[in-house]
Amino acid sequence: MTQVGLVGVGRIGAFHAATLHALPGVEVVVADVQAGRAEALAASLGADWAPDVGALLDRRPAALVVATPTGSHAELIDRGVAAGIPVFCEKPAADTSARTLEIVNSVDKHGGRVQIGFQRRFDAGYAAARAEVGRGALGRVHTLRGQTCDPTPPPAAYIATSGGVFKDCSIHDFDAIRWVTGREVVSVFATGSARGEPFFAASGDVDTAAAVLRLDDDALATVTATRYHGAGYAVTLEVQGTHGTVGAGYDGSLPLRPVGNPPRTGVCTWPEGPPHPSFMSRFHEAYVRELQAFVDYAEGRAENPCTVADALEALYIAEACDLSRAENRPVTLAEVRR
Ligand SMILES: NC(=O)c1ccc[n+]([C@@H]2O[C@H](COP(=O)([O-])OP(=O)(O)OC[C@H]3O[C@@H](n4cnc5c(N)ncnc54)[C@H](O)[C@@H]3O)[C@@H](O)[C@H]2O)c1
Repeated sequence: MTQVGLVGVGRIGAFHAATLHALPGVEVVVADVQAGRAEALAASLGADWAPDVGALLDRRPAALVVATPTGSHAELIDRGVAAGIPVFCEKPAADTSARTLEIVNSVDKHGGRVQIGFQRRFDAGYAAARAEVGRGALGRVHTLRGQTCDPTPPPAAYIATSGGVFKDCSIHDFDAIRWVTGREVVSVFATGSARGEPFFAASGDVDTAAAVLRLDDDALATVTATRYHGAGYAVTLEVQGTHGTVGAGYDGSLPLRPVGNPPRTGVCTWPEGPPHPSFMSRFHEAYVRELQAFVDYAEGRAENPCTVADALEALYIAEACDLSRAENRPVTLAEVRR
């Protein structure tokens, strides 16, 4: 049995705990700063729990999963690395690029093993788009369009510590664009608006955002995000090239209703089923594959599929977008890179 310790049993942590508990050969032990939460989740799963992180690490689990709020990731990664335990940490690796760079250096120095949670790398559509680009099926890729739309905002307390829409939400699109194209972003122009709940503006955040990215081969990408997509949870990536175009995320539950189709081309009945209510249903299979990949990596059976260095690159893009939005001007990655 591989014993996996999991810290933070909130929205995503409880979901990951259930996923880990269901993986063959894995036994999960959960902990949370609110010990009662960990105890209750453990009871509902039939799993074990520890009263705090120290007690969890004292058990010397074979691997550690960090699903606490963003501000605590760096410290918990450090504790796992110092104890010689492979760590999976939810995105982003830390709340600033300065802190993420420290983790990159510490992981290098101590030979640590840390995987970051960008689950789109394990989504069938994103993986297929990457394969199409890789085999040249699209020709010269010139345009990408990524979007992340939440049906309703997360709680106000979450927004206050999330780091803002680019670090919290669009960072998935930034990682996906790098991963699918194999290219780096060289400059961004980003903007946003806050017309929903006042807690967005109070946190200096926006509820709707858009960014234009220029890649190092001069391909262009647009990334949009909103916390108010009442139609349902929507995450897609379109990749266009000189020979072809593909779209990831266009399943029967994508909440997009075509209108006004002329009879000549037929009426599209999509979406076929109820919309995805949240990231949990949309990415369920990707999360399972991601955590299985982490267990394989922790056990030395596979390579790291998403390093802290990858997380740092995505965070640089998010920080460039924050600066661009704040100063209403294009920003090069060189300006934020450390
Ligand atoms: N990959 C994804 O699709 C995805 C989706 C949602 C959230 N996330 C990320 O996961 C992280 C958690 O988000 P969430 O929405 O689950 O948050 P949440 O607020 O719902 O849950 C966080 C949990 O961690 C506990 N906690 C807080 N500080 C702690 C500490 N120092 N030690 C132990 N436990 C602690 C809290 O009591 C709570 O139970 C965030 O960094 C977020 O960016 C990723």
